[in-house]
Amino acid sequence: MIKIISNKNGKEKSNLISLFDEGSKNKVRAFHKTLLNYKPTPLIEMNKYADIVGVNKLWVKDESHRMGLKAFKVLGASYAITNILYEKIGWDKNELSFEKLFNEDLSQFTFVTATDGNHGRGVAWISNQFGCKSFVFMPNTSSEVRINNIEEFATEVFIVDGNYDMASGKAKEYAKQKNAILVQDSSWEGYEKIPLIIMQGYITLIDEIYEQLNGDNFSHIFLHCGVGSMPAAIEAYLVNKFGTDKPITNIVEPNKADCFYKSIEINDGKPHSVYGKLDSVMAGLSCGTPSKLAWDIISKHSNYFISCDDEIAKLGMREFSKVNIISGESGAVSLGILKYAFDNDKSIFEKLEIDSSSKIMLISTEGDTDQIFYKQVLSEID
Ligand SMILES: Cc1ncc(COP(=O)(O)O)c(C=O)c1O
Repeated sequence: MIKIISNKNGKEKSNLISLFDEGSKNKVRAFHKTLLNYKPTPLIEMNKYADIVGVNKLWVKDESHRMGLKAFKVLGASYAITNILYEKIGWDKNELSFEKLFNEDLSQFTFVTATDGNHGRGVAWISNQFGCKSFVFMPNTSSEVRINNIEEFATEVFIVDGNYDMASGKAKEYAKQKNAILVQDSSWEGYEKIPLIIMQGYITLIDEIYEQLNGDNFSHIFLHCGVGSMPAAIEAYLVNKFGTDKPITNIVEPNKADCFYKSIEINDGKPHSVYGKLDSVMAGLSCGTPSKLAWDIISKHSNYFISCDDEIAKLGMREFSKVNIISGESGAVSLGILKYAFDNDKSIFEKLEIDSSSKIMLISTEGDTDQIFYKQVLSEID
């Protein structure tokens, strides 16, 4: 099932937009280029698939190739942790370099985070590169494979008896107790500085896309949303670049954790949480509370909010595999929406203002980050 709601806001501009401008972009891009294993992930034109669903163009940015970690999230974690370490040492944060830090003894620094997979893997990986400690909290619904992926780099992984929001609460407490640095990709009242830097780290993802588009542009982009930090960063980048003529942005969430969708539906201008196990197969999107900073941007600028069940994500994974793109549960849902709409309910296209002239950008935000489940989904029949 797919539910869509349009955003009735859109008159007020978020004050946060200017934090994602050209200057921020240049700093972030320059930093990521210093990472030893950095290279832009592929942007693939899916011409045949565009013909199948009857649109003008369809691209996918394939994050399964991101720095061996198979998801974009490391872009934010690496940028934030490098910024924090530069500040602690007292170096000039305008000239961030991975290599320069790599040669320092940083073993006295400890980072703490909560994750449903990819952000924690990024935090643990970069901490490990720098010789820092990292403690990662995960919900009890986390898959064995994703836990193992993080254990490869983290000092310790804790499984919390509860959902992602509970893991986030535990990480916050633990960081305070241990006097360690909380590096969370969500923000709340009083905790905004680090999540903002993480969001700025995601600028690289959208800026690579524009570099690769070579002057072309898309009319619609689908943004897979958990706490909202990545979608908000992309939204802010687009508002900076195009103002009110920006492409249409669709915020996509699992129906078991659709806190942005529900907040827009309630329409009182405030973010609202959703509760329960948050046990969608789209683990990376299974967050019950919007990030404060992300809410400010998304609620003022995003166009449509889409809530989907797990079958749509699985359909997307199988469709991507037919064109040899490895896309995981949280990465594939948008292609699932297009395929489902074409096969079953063309009114979805109308609701999203998609027609034969549309040029659509998808971001497959993760590869097979749980290879066992990935294989299982591919073996299921549509
Ligand atoms: C694969 C994937 N896609 C999308 C997202 C959503 O990003 P955000 O939580 O910043 O909204 C996540 C979050 O972890 C993710 O892992």
